[in-house]
Amino acid sequence: MAEQTTARVLVASNRGPVAFRHAPDGSLTPRRGGGGLVSGLSAIDDPHAVWVCAALGEADRAAARQSPQGRLDLAGFDVGGQAVRMLDIDPVVFDQAYNGVANSTLWFLHHQLYNTPTAPAFDQAAAERWAGFREYNEAFAAALAAEAAPGAAVLVQDYHLTLVPALLRERRPDLRIGYFLHTPWAPVDYFRLLPDEPAAAVLTGVLGADRAGFHTRRWAEAFADCCERVLGATVDRAALTVTFQGRTTALGVHPLGADAEFLRERAHRADVDERLAALKAAVGERRTIVRVDRTELSKNIVRGLQAYLHLLRTRPEWHDRLVHIAFAYPSRQDLAEYRDYTAAVRRISEEINAEFGTATWQPLILQVEDDFARSLAAYRLADVALVNPIRDGMNLVAKEVPVVSEAGCALVLSREAGAWAELAEDAIGINPYDVVGTAEALHRGLTMPAAERTERTKRLAAAATALSPQQWFLDQLAALTAS
Ligand code: G6P
Repeated sequence: MAEQTTARVLVASNRGPVAFRHAPDGSLTPRRGGGGLVSGLSAIDDPHAVWVCAALGEADRAAARQSPQGRLDLAGFDVGGQAVRMLDIDPVVFDQAYNGVANSTLWFLHHQLYNTPTAPAFDQAAAERWAGFREYNEAFAAALAAEAAPGAAVLVQDYHLTLVPALLRERRPDLRIGYFLHTPWAPVDYFRLLPDEPAAAVLTGVLGADRAGFHTRRWAEAFADCCERVLGATVDRAALTVTFQGRTTALGVHPLGADAEFLRERAHRADVDERLAALKAAVGERRTIVRVDRTELSKNIVRGLQAYLHLLRTRPEWHDRLVHIAFAYPSRQDLAEYRDYTAAVRRISEEINAEFGTATWQPLILQVEDDFARSLAAYRLADVALVNPIRDGMNLVAKEVPVVSEAGCALVLSREAGAWAELAEDAIGINPYDVVGTAEALHRGLTMPAAERTERTKRLAAAATALSPQQWFLDQLAALTAS
């Protein structure tokens, strides 16, 4: 029998399951990426599955160029058994798509991050970036069209690849095309910031899919509102479908959960124990508030630190009895807004320690080096976890902490995080803009009776793990192939 050369299941995302680096001897070494998507994909039981992603740095590009059509040789490497095809996209086009449109325009739009008197401005340079974004999306559509077996299922991930479903359908109408958005979707009045052409391209791009998935019903409905009001599409809110130009796209709600099995095992390895011992030595007998984020505008780290400052200013009883552990890992440093934000986080952190620190008490420990084992150690130790995004598609930290916590942890959670939809009952809800309210919520968390904290943490952990990454993926695949 001839060996099958095309895939029946395909996944596409900007960041793939592996990243390469140059080893000291010059060879290229792959490293497995983290995150729910990689865990979810490990559930695919199909040796002919293919994951299409972009080469993200020079080492990735070199690896992609060494392999026929960018198909990597990952024999013996644990990415769930699938083949990975890494696209070597022209660096200028990649920058226009990734930094210029995906992480600036679309990310800012869906997270409502614009400071509208000055940005955005859709000028000639912006038009060129959109052309690059289209070219990048076309590269993905072309690769998927080339790799897919007749009638194959394709799962396109996230805002970077918004145009792919429609571009792929033009090339391959036989495919079952699914799309999943990991961010919120902008409310329609905010979405109207986009000029007509990109606005229509984004909406019709997603509507090229047979099914479009979101983490919460709120984001699915916001998308449907945009289709109705911007495109004039017909929306059935009860059935959650959008019909436009004779085709119907079903909307799905699939709230990705934490990977309990992986987390519980990983959180008790020796490297985590070591870091926990170091944190305990630094904190002593004091209580802890923990936060773990990328240094990301939407994560609202500055207001979180302002809330901690307000707590220390208004409640002196916490002086020398409390430490805030803030892990804020660098992210998207090619963008000026992120560099400025990182500087603002550092500034306020220094102010807090200067105002309240003593020879024996450092009220805030800010760490910026990415260290997953240390994050898990902090989850184990936390008395209170602070998760206060301005908006967030889901937020997995809110779901991971209760799973890993040792003695129970109060969760202070923004009502604008997708995770709020499932965790509202046992979390302490906050308006992320309300600094004083956030400080009060932190105090409430710190003073919650131990028994109540333990009970709430148990229920939070159960809700947070209701849909494992593997099941999350399989559900979408099943819905796509059944419809
Ligand atoms: C968000 C997106 C992901 C992305 C991640 C990290 O969670 O939904 O698709 O991978 O941010 O961002 P980065 O730009 O580093 O890939």
